[in-house]
Amino acid sequence: MKYIVIISVIFLFFGCSSKPVDGAALYKEDCANCHGKFARKSAFGKSQVISDFTKEEIISALIGYQEGTYGRSMKGMMKSQVKSFDEEEITALAEYISNIGKY
Ligand code: HEC
Repeated sequence: MKYIVIISVIFLFFGCSSKPVDGAALYKEDCANCHGKFARKSAFGKSQVISDFTKEEIISALIGYQEGTYGRSMKGMMKSQVKSFDEEEITALAEYISNIGKY
């Protein structure tokens, strides 16, 4: 009986959570072209070097771009990049970028 409960809990857990978001894959696909493979490039000579940002700074910048509350002259470009991302994807991206030097 105990095992049935444990197994059901495991199934419930995996059933509910969709597959985890891969921040590295997302970054390579959607961001590396402009920000550089190691996030050390200034996009269009306009962005800051985002590998220097902390995880929290990246999250707040990305949400700010989505909401139109963050950014400078080229914020429209970033808004179109991040508009379709949900919280989980933003967190995964921020986690990856803020640790990018360690990969
Ligand atoms: C088409 C080029 C392009 C792509 C693709 C792109 N960015 Fe950007 N990014 C920029 C530019 C240009 C800026 C500076 C915008 C501004 O003026 O505020 C910027 C700014 C940023 C900033 C804030 C840095 C600052 O200067 O304040 C972060 C964080 C960021 N991008 C993360 C990302 C992430 C994560 C992705 C992938 C989902 C991404 N970018 C994709 C061009 C791009």
